[in-house]
Amino acid sequence: MTFVVGEKCIKCKLMDCVEVCPVDCFHEGANMLVIDPGECIDCTLCEPECPIGAIYSEDELPADQEKMLAVNAEYAQKWPVITEKRDPPLDWTAWEAVENKYPEQFSPEPGGPDRD
Ligand code: SF4
Ligand code: F3S
Repeated sequence: MTFVVGEKCIKCKLMDCVEVCPVDCFHEGANMLVIDPGECIDCTLCEPECPIGAIYSEDELPADQEKMLAVNAEYAQKWPVITEKRDPPLDWTAWEAVENKYPEQFSPEPGGPDRD
């Protein structure tokens, strides 16, 4: 079992979730984070930290977001670990209520403090 970052995170990337993870399994892309399913210990701490409810337990992932499990697994291997919150994107509120963001808005590029 693992926790999964869903597509609500895309272009919001609030980063409140990263500092509570005891095993540092969040990885940072250009416009969202993912969780490494091989490292997550299912502690549940991150889920309530996300102000927009973008984090799900694997067994509660909505059916239309099942693809995000594979996205988390793939990009956790490609993106750097993030352990400290920074300021979110200036326009994150414009993306908060947008649904089905993955097809048009997902970026495969890595993120980090030197890429803001
Ligand atoms: Fe980290 Fe716990 Fe969240 Fe897994 S459930 S990503 S171990 S904080
Ligand atoms: Fe994303 Fe929520 Fe974390 S928007 S970066 S999952 S706090």
